[in-house]
Amino acid sequence: MSFPNIRLRRLRRTAELRRMFDIAPPSPSKFVWPVFVVEGSGRCEPIDAMPGQFRYSIDTLLKAVEKVAEQGIGGILLFGQSEGRKDSGGSGAWDDAGVVQRVIAALKREFPGLIVMSDVCLCAYTDHGHCGPLSPDGGVDNDAAIELLARVAVSHAGAGADVVAPSAMMDGQVLAIRDALADHDFKDTLLMSYSTKFVSSMYGPFRDAENSAPSAGDRRGYQASYANLRVALRESELDEEEGADILMVKPALFYLDVLARLRESTDLPLAAYNVSGEYSMLHATAERGWGDLYAMAHESLMALERAGADLFLSYWAPFYKEIFSNR
Ligand code: PBG
Ligand code: ZN
Repeated sequence: MSFPNIRLRRLRRTAELRRMFDIAPPSPSKFVWPVFVVEGSGRCEPIDAMPGQFRYSIDTLLKAVEKVAEQGIGGILLFGQSEGRKDSGGSGAWDDAGVVQRVIAALKREFPGLIVMSDVCLCAYTDHGHCGPLSPDGGVDNDAAIELLARVAVSHAGAGADVVAPSAMMDGQVLAIRDALADHDFKDTLLMSYSTKFVSSMYGPFRDAENSAPSAGDRRGYQASYANLRVALRESELDEEEGADILMVKPALFYLDVLARLRESTDLPLAAYNVSGEYSMLHATAERGWGDLYAMAHESLMALERAGADLFLSYWAPFYKEIFSNR
């Protein structure tokens, strides 16, 4: 059987047919909004490289989250930074009185139904901007880093985080954190590993927002190479063995092949991190009049759904309605 009896256009002839046979869009509960928090009050500073995103102090964040929670967005992923208080080990990251720890507690108090996730890394707190302390040869000291990352995770769990999310790409970090959480009796804290995190040029706007770019060198010695698929897959496989509850591919849109491969090979939930550069490039295109912003966002998020993402970490989360209604 072939043409003229088989006509694929029958299945998409009308809007009603398309609605019936197309896959459903991900529900808002699958979305997690990554946000940047700073000390002080009344602060809501636009991030130049990320239109529509801001650095919030706790008070303004709580107001912004209200609107996001109303739409049914599932969770928030927190990024902190220590303005003016950086050191070689990044000790600000595990300060129990730090802004991230306080915002975790405030969010759980004000929005008990919202899932609170925290990024566990050191690069926004180290004076050199790397994701762990440096060893004498100038590289990042893996085994020292994982001890510190475990402290950060315990501090966030103690503040009430539902999910801790290590992003430093150190070997053994998932195991070190799982063990430390167990030692402190945080047996229900979820661990979402940034398991396959590539060394990428798409993090630029984020580093601008976080002021977390390395002052010398780059992250090629720890983040995964996008030119080595097998090692990238092993990164996620190992994190599953070390006790991660949720795996991740980051960035998302240039790595749909990796997402689809992992979807076949693991039964763990899979998160797709739709990173800052992926968000900002659509804004830049729309600003020049070269594409419709929300239509492009819709198309890119449906690509992640098709590839098998269970969870969408995306700066588009607050714009769920604009993107998914009437399309
Ligand atoms: C920190 C971290 C980064 C991102 C998330 N956690 C930046 C980096 O690795 O340099 C990037 C997020 C984004 O670009 O949206 N380890
Ligand atoms: Zn980092």
